[in-house]
Amino acid sequence: MGPRTMQSTLDQRAGALIGRESERAALLELVERDMPLVAFVHGIAGVGKSMLLQAAVVDARARGTLVVALDGRAFEPTERGFLSSLGGALNTPLATVVDVTGALASDARVLLTIDTHEQLRLLDAWLRQSFVPALPHNVRLLVAGRDTPTAWQRDLGGLLRTIRLDNLSDEAARTLLRRAGVDSAIAARVAQVARGHPLSLQLAAGALVERPGLPAEDAVLGPMVEELARLYIDGLDPMTRRAFDAASVVRRTTLTLLEPRAQCSRHPTRPVTASTAGPRGPACAPSCAPPGGPTSGATPPTCSTSSRTRSSAMRSSRAAQTSSRSNPPAPVITQP
Ligand SMILES: Nc1ncnc2c1ncn2[C@@H]1O[C@H](COP(=O)(O)OP(=O)(O)OP(=O)(O)O)[C@@H](O)[C@H]1O
Ligand SMILES: [Mg+2]
Repeated sequence: MGPRTMQSTLDQRAGALIGRESERAALLELVERDMPLVAFVHGIAGVGKSMLLQAAVVDARARGTLVVALDGRAFEPTERGFLSSLGGALNTPLATVVDVTGALASDARVLLTIDTHEQLRLLDAWLRQSFVPALPHNVRLLVAGRDTPTAWQRDLGGLLRTIRLDNLSDEAARTLLRRAGVDSAIAARVAQVARGHPLSLQLAAGALVERPGLPAEDAVLGPMVEELARLYIDGLDPMTRRAFDAASVVRRTTLTLLEPRAQCSRHPTRPVTASTAGPRGPACAPSCAPPGGPTSGATPPTCSTSSRTRSSAMRSSRAAQTSSRSNPPAPVITQP
């Protein structure tokens, strides 16, 4: 027998999942029943998707099921990157989906898990339309990611089970804090602040240990907000990020204020800077004018007034608002 590794301790931790009983039971159906063929766990960052996935893996292995676990962070989001990662896990080279069928086919049930699916957006259509159909009948697929799996629902219908993870109940949140060594009275107060968001609860528990002298709320709020803000803002696409930055420093966001952050639709790498702005908003740099030169009249042909850029900025602004609305326990970006 080889040396004992930390994996067994990690498995124990995954097995000690708090709450999530119904979700865990639903995922066991992938191992014990004919249906569903695919399950998709989705929810916001830090809500516990990976932890639930790990618990499902522990449950499956405990029933003798072979588990093959992949993570979207571990390979490039291309067909080749995916097949190479899967081939590495199976210890056999895979060049095409036909090779996958051959490598995974057996009489025994196999559970294939893909965590952090949001890193594989570029590969999503291939996964749904080429990879899944090529899986042999004995394989069940479990995916976890932040995006709502609308396209998966459309393609797989009743063969797919979606599980949307929400924050933990108040009781489960207090249990998590107590298990992390937080005193019961303080746990009740901190649970209110974190609103059942597991990552926030973990961060809060860590902060309380690090700063024992401070009142609980003071100790947890700073580290919690800082880490959550980093997590969510890092996840935004560049355009949404710019709109989000602009919207975060003003009392009221208007399109005119966002416009300097937008880019010329004809020159996507060239930002329309405030230095080109006129009294009516950001004027078009001469080189951005449409063929034939600027039109005359009160409204110059500004880069930022092109309908494409305008609607893109508005979409980004809306996306930023939606993103901040759906964020857990109110890491509010406050007005100055
Ligand atoms: N049900 C739970 N019981 C105990 N701890 C949990 C639970 N759910 C999540 N956690 C803890 O909360 C933290 C965040 O969970 P996890 O990493 O699973 O979130 P996630 O949804 O996968 O986030 P991301 O979208 O960033 O991948 C981890 O430290 C995890 O151990
Ligand atoms: Mg995760």
